[in-house]
Amino acid sequence: WVLMATAQTPTNIAVIKYWGKRDEELILPVNDSISVTLDPSHLCTITTVAVSPAFEQDRMWLNRKEISLSGARYQNCLREIRSRANDVEDKEKGIKIAKKDWEKLHVYIDSYNNFPTAAGLASSAAGFACLVFALANLMNVKEDQSKLSAIARQGSGSACRSLYGGFVKWSMGKEKDGSDSLAIQLADEKHWDDLVIIIAVVSSRQKETSSTSGMRETVETSLLLQHRAKEVVPKRVLAMEEAIKNRDFVSFAQLTCSDSNQFHAVCLDTSPPIFYMNDTSHRIISLVEKWNRSEGVPQVAYTFDAGPNSVLIARNRKTAVSLLQRLLFYFPPNPETDLNSYVLGDKSI
Ligand code: DP6
Repeated sequence: WVLMATAQTPTNIAVIKYWGKRDEELILPVNDSISVTLDPSHLCTITTVAVSPAFEQDRMWLNRKEISLSGARYQNCLREIRSRANDVEDKEKGIKIAKKDWEKLHVYIDSYNNFPTAAGLASSAAGFACLVFALANLMNVKEDQSKLSAIARQGSGSACRSLYGGFVKWSMGKEKDGSDSLAIQLADEKHWDDLVIIIAVVSSRQKETSSTSGMRETVETSLLLQHRAKEVVPKRVLAMEEAIKNRDFVSFAQLTCSDSNQFHAVCLDTSPPIFYMNDTSHRIISLVEKWNRSEGVPQVAYTFDAGPNSVLIARNRKTAVSLLQRLLFYFPPNPETDLNSYVLGDKSI
């Protein structure tokens, strides 16, 4: 017999960035972060997990290619979920798995991203959140979403925020064991559904410096990160929570753009410096800044993760259409240029 569970999990985009760990093993961050979760039908991971007495070891396929599960991140997630497994019964199939049997059974995991892996589009966020959620369903784990988020965090930090829709905060927590470093929902997906998110894919190539090694080097060498984590982010997180609560787009856009720029400044302050944005990314920033200035109030916010792709958040649909027209005018889709695709996403689930 085989028993399966499938989950679909959207990616999330940080508007206040996580960059830097205080504990590498448990994945505990140096500051709180806030993100917005995309519509699951746009950028998402779909993961099917299966269990059968015929499986002799745990195995995983990512985008149809087998990958190793031996790394600590996968092992930690599998161990944490297994230790919380409960009795499972499927009467139709006549299958009964007792709680104690889960330790002996192996799983097959088939995971698929509908967007470029490791191109700075937070694929690990959707990936680990989806893996943890699918395994928790299969094994009848009864923990709430927040507890599951703390498990997903051990796969990839940003993954903890993908367990919820809408706006999500990852609290850095104070405890040494990471038990209070988890995600909470600030507002659900219906709270601010005027916003439209457009992702301009500047390059779908694999990034040169992974987030994990990049942030390690930043923690080791950047003084600016200390200032950011202690002085800047705590105030910004409070201001961002207020902006989200009041649907205050002016503050939201200012905070989002400033935080993205400071994150990239911190990358530049790392030794050796890390460059995630390219010329096209910089041109997109200029386009948005000039437009916002000419309108008097911000129409669009931009944010860039660990790669050159831009995430643009328009205040409403009308602005989003105008933004797309501008992007198409200045960066016509053309194989000769590197900006060749736009993904029109919707913030809400
Ligand atoms: C720039 O979550 O990918 O996207 O915890 O090492 O797996 P690890 O890093 P990851 O880092 C994401 C960094 C970021 C900002 C963010 O999502 O907050």
